[in-house]
Amino acid sequence: MCGIVGYAGKKTALPVLLDGLARLEYRGYDSAGIAWIENSSIRRKRCQGKLAALRDILEGGRISDAPIGIGHTRWATHGAPTEENAHPHTDCTGSLVVVHNGIIENYFSLRNQLTEEGHTFRSETDTEVLAHLVEKYLEDDLSDAVRKALADVEGAYAMGVLWQGAPDTLVAARKESPLVLGLGKGENFMASDIPALLPYTRDIIFLEDGDLAVITADAIEIKRIDTGEPVQREVTTISWDATAAEKAGFRHFMLKEIYEQPQAILNTFRGRIIPETGRVEIPEIQLQPEAINGLSRIVLLACGTSWHAGLVAKYWIEEWAGIPVEVELASEFRYRRLLVDERVLTVPISQSGETADTLAGLRIAKERNSPVISICNVVGSTITRESRGTIYTHAGPEIGVASTKAFTSQLTALYILALFLAQTRETMSADERASKLRALAKVPGMIEKNLKALHDACTGLADEFYQHSDFLYLGRHLHFPIALEGALKLKEISYIHAEGYAAGEMKHGPIALIDRNMPVVALIPRDHVYEKMVSNVEEVRSRRGIIIAIAEEGDEDIARIAQHVITVPAIAEPAAKPFLFTIPLQLLAYEISFARGCDVDQPRNLAKSVTVE
Ligand code: F6R
Repeated sequence: MCGIVGYAGKKTALPVLLDGLARLEYRGYDSAGIAWIENSSIRRKRCQGKLAALRDILEGGRISDAPIGIGHTRWATHGAPTEENAHPHTDCTGSLVVVHNGIIENYFSLRNQLTEEGHTFRSETDTEVLAHLVEKYLEDDLSDAVRKALADVEGAYAMGVLWQGAPDTLVAARKESPLVLGLGKGENFMASDIPALLPYTRDIIFLEDGDLAVITADAIEIKRIDTGEPVQREVTTISWDATAAEKAGFRHFMLKEIYEQPQAILNTFRGRIIPETGRVEIPEIQLQPEAINGLSRIVLLACGTSWHAGLVAKYWIEEWAGIPVEVELASEFRYRRLLVDERVLTVPISQSGETADTLAGLRIAKERNSPVISICNVVGSTITRESRGTIYTHAGPEIGVASTKAFTSQLTALYILALFLAQTRETMSADERASKLRALAKVPGMIEKNLKALHDACTGLADEFYQHSDFLYLGRHLHFPIALEGALKLKEISYIHAEGYAAGEMKHGPIALIDRNMPVVALIPRDHVYEKMVSNVEEVRSRRGIIIAIAEEGDEDIARIAQHVITVPAIAEPAAKPFLFTIPLQLLAYEISFARGCDVDQPRNLAKSVTVE
């Protein structure tokens, strides 16, 4: 996730661009850059770090009064957060510049092809191929060249292009990454998100996938990228205030991030899986097949929500790749006598990449010669720098303290890692892998379709239960860790005592807690332990517990045993069910916290990144 802005007008572009970028910094802030056209030449300034550093550089010199420009604030995906990798990127001649948000999936082959054709690359980014592709096709019409370039591109993009040969024109295009246009008087804008534009205009056009816009001070012309046909897009007048706009109209970042999950999951598997053939490609882990085949064990190392993601992955990896897995709480792992050596793969899982205990555990594992492959959301963070390889989750910045989209993205990365191990160790047929990948590919769409209805249902439940002081969450098999995660979400943001249990453990103690006041959230997917789970719920019912069942659409039987039923879309592949069962637990926790008047995004006593022991 990155932020892009563009301006074509009559006033000085730079302050507008810097101001717009500041409002998009929530989308990433590991480097920033800006380009404009002055005396018929492209000029550019970029730097590593937050926008303030760029602002200092610009304000230290003469501020250009150029009336056109583009800017970018980066959340690194390909290439470290350095100045060379900061946008805008140029072609070989330096006469055109590109800013981009998204992922170019075939950038590697495009880069090789363009290099063979004589283009010189100066960064490690996927974006730079866009600049060289446009250069390749550019004759005298910039928008034509962008259209031709995009015909070669696979992946997601929101982009802006400036060329000194057309000094009044900014070209923007989008596919699967957000991009809006703003309409002013004698000036027009583009941006990744509305907040960047609100000080200047409230008249917004939402570009659709496959749209390209030619933007000048006085006009915006929109056409389709594939056919070049002109299209009309509706103008929407935005009524949000600036604070609401930063959260895209959502009440809290947490809610926005819950709604971003379809995109975050898609971004995490995009370019790494081929569902038709069952292939998984994650070259970034840099482990040779011999090393994978020689593994005796895998240690998944994490804290909190990330640990729950590891617990789910244990089932996948053991079942598919046949390797024993231990899921370690990093704070415990680091103070034990460890039986870890070079045949044990250590996988730290961390959203922030800075969690002190996880980092300490990683270092101890390395001292014992264990190869370390991390799963992380923040490019360039300490954990990634100290790992041999990293599978990045592409969830974008997570601002709400309670982890939501990072969790489902971690599940996604672990799901494909498990299949990759099975592929390398030949423990699963290509057909079976293909079927599991097809199921994963369906997940984002299924979540998206059901989100609003699920949200309404969870709001209704929250109204009824927000004053209760204790909750139990029950699940079995893959949904035992999901029950733990549901309980953690509730307690951390609503301050209600909640416990997650393996449902089969109830009889060994916790069942004593059940009475007519105890809400029990029971996760009841239709899997191989369905009947067992139903029996456990019956046990709760016979002790007069209040049952809130999360079940699959079409499962009519559950309504007979549970007082409250929330349904999620039914997916045949059992391994893909945890993604769908996680969402209502997040929404329920969110709505209960909101109903209790808690500080949802910054709950008491917590920090987003726990960098101390
Ligand atoms: C809970 C939550 C925490 C983190 C934990 C690890 O919602 O966010 O439990 O999961 O502090 O953080 P990372 O993943 O950054 O290592």
